[in-house]
Amino acid sequence: STLPTSKQFAQKDGFRFFMEKEIYEQSDVVSDCMLGRLKDEEILFDEIDKSLIDGINEIKICACGTSYHAGLTSSYLFERLAKVKCNVEIASEFRYKEPLLTKDTLFIVISQSGETADTLEALKMAKNAGLKSLVICNVDNSSMTRTANNTILTRAGIEKGVASTKAFSTQTVVLWMLALYFAKAKNVISKEKLQSEIHALREVPKSLKVLDKVHEKARRLSKRYLHGHGFFFIGRDVFFPLALEGALKLKEISYLHAEGYPAGEMKHGPIALADPELFTIALMPENLLYDKIKSNVEELSARDSTICAISPLDFELADDFIKTCKTDHYMLEFFEMLVVLQLLSMEISIRLGNDVDMPRNLAKSVTVE
Ligand code: AGP
Repeated sequence: STLPTSKQFAQKDGFRFFMEKEIYEQSDVVSDCMLGRLKDEEILFDEIDKSLIDGINEIKICACGTSYHAGLTSSYLFERLAKVKCNVEIASEFRYKEPLLTKDTLFIVISQSGETADTLEALKMAKNAGLKSLVICNVDNSSMTRTANNTILTRAGIEKGVASTKAFSTQTVVLWMLALYFAKAKNVISKEKLQSEIHALREVPKSLKVLDKVHEKARRLSKRYLHGHGFFFIGRDVFFPLALEGALKLKEISYLHAEGYPAGEMKHGPIALADPELFTIALMPENLLYDKIKSNVEELSARDSTICAISPLDFELADDFIKTCKTDHYMLEFFEMLVVLQLLSMEISIRLGNDVDMPRNLAKSVTVE
């Protein structure tokens, strides 16, 4: 047997942790992920069967953890752009619910490692039921890519940090492209709309660039936030799964209690928790439902929750504010806010003295049930 060459070992390259390096790499790996797949007026996925979407009326996505959040995000995009029904399930739930599977469903699994036991089993169930399947994966020749009929690789490179970062951004980009690929194939998107979406996709690497002032702000906020006892991350639409992802990052590496919540749902119970000890991280994009999220945050502020607003628009009720750049597409705001959330949890974790890359009780890939 031959020893792996040094190229096969990921290096920290001067960053304090792999997670930090991987956050900074996102802009580049997302460019790699789009390479050859984005044309001026169309999206190309040469690796999948041309007939993959023939006869498909529904998409079912299964995944775990961060990959599940990418799936949830894409369900908004599949329905909005490709006009196809899409539902997303946590793989461990899907497996035992005796799911009803119909042959007009495309079964998509999402996984960084391609080895997550529950996701792999869900994929096998779908295959056995005769469904067409597609794996969105970062590791070629993994158990999932060997099982599926079709694979799209996310090309994020080796991800070492247990907290997934660049896998998520590349998964989300692949899924956004896939929604547009479907939209075009089904002829449900205008030429102008497709072009403007492709234009926005090309801007994603820029939105994922880490700005010094944003990193510094996250570092400064971490000083106070490490004392927080409870965090609510709130958002609407695709910013709801992003809120879930922000909360998961904080939980797994900072060991602080955090929940992601749909902003409009707070008044149905959780707002009872509002007091100055409750930190609300509010995702307030300019280009999607701004007035709605604003009024949800105002309600929390009126009940004395401490508010950290992440937005390109000034928000005077915020106790803390992280300003993102102005863009003209909500998905670009999504990626900018993603970086902010990743940096915030990483800086809090560093200040707490935790092992950022290998948090307690967790493994990079969960190969047992
Ligand atoms: C994310 O930060 C996690 N460590 C975890 O939730 C992970 O996303 C999950 O275990 C799924 O892994 P996979 O993408 O390799 O299937």
